Amino acid sequence: MKKIVVIGSINVDLVVSSERFPKKGETIIGNSFNVFCGGKGANQAVSASKLGGHVEFIGAVGDDSYGDLALNNLKDHGVGISSVAKLNGISTGLASITVAENDNQIVIIKGANEKINIEFIKQYLEVIQEASMVVLQFEIPLETVFYLVDYCYEHGIKTILNPAPFVPFDKTIIDKVTYFTPNETEINAMFDESYEEVLCKYPNKIIMTKGSEGAFMHDGNQLVHIHPKKVNVVDTTGAGDTFNGALAAFIAQEINLVDALEKANIAAGISIGKIGAQSAMPTLDEVEQYEEA
Ligand code: RIB
Ligand code: NA
Repeated sequence: MKKIVVIGSINVDLVVSSERFPKKGETIIGNSFNVFCGGKGANQAVSASKLGGHVEFIGAVGDDSYGDLALNNLKDHGVGISSVAKLNGISTGLASITVAENDNQIVIIKGANEKINIEFIKQYLEVIQEASMVVLQFEIPLETVFYLVDYCYEHGIKTILNPAPFVPFDKTIIDKVTYFTPNETEINAMFDESYEEVLCKYPNKIIMTKGSEGAFMHDGNQLVHIHPKKVNVVDTTGAGDTFNGALAAFIAQEINLVDALEKANIAAGISIGKIGAQSAMPTLDEVEQYEEA
């Protein structure tokens, strides 16, 4: 089966849910607390794996108990972890998340994710060479992401680059990636034109997710709108990650791009119906049941 290699962050998510967000300096009583495995990279890997993808991960955790938790979690979800390093003297990536008012607020501590530099990546080039698709985000050092995009471009390996969390970057990188998947906020931060104009300039490449409105792409002839199905919003954390991982999994199945987007959109929709990122991601069966309903 075609191999998907996800190179990115691993976090543990400390998630508090409450009716509303506290104001500055305010203390409020919340509803629940959960510890979940997260991180944009790990989330996308788990999403792809739950949907039947053959997924290898390249990344790092720290030498704390959260690191073991995150590693076991990836393994339990069928993600290959032989290229995940456990680094000494540093903490595992951490996300402090508040879920309220149908939205979330996230503060990240980079921890071991910050150590994924180009030297680190060079240890795993053989794993990357075997990939049919490499999936990247912006939660590891930007110079590493740029190095990997160049490397994959030169070696004819397809890439999905999800520019999240957003940081200013050199947009020429977009020319070298196969699929670029910003959300609407990220598109607005990057370009002065309307998103319709931007998508038209990068047909079949930029796929913009637009929250409850689904996703948009230009197919070379026209703007394609992937409509969402109606879902009950519980927790949108990781919906974008579900979408990206799913996209990788469905592209690996060699179905056409618009069908892959439809299915990825359904997967993301299902994921917001439950609390947590990975815990809410659907299996292939769940996506198919939803398609038939
Ligand atoms: O995209 C959601 C993720 O962002 C969370 O799992 C958290 O770890 C942060 O990286
Ligand atoms: Na969710």
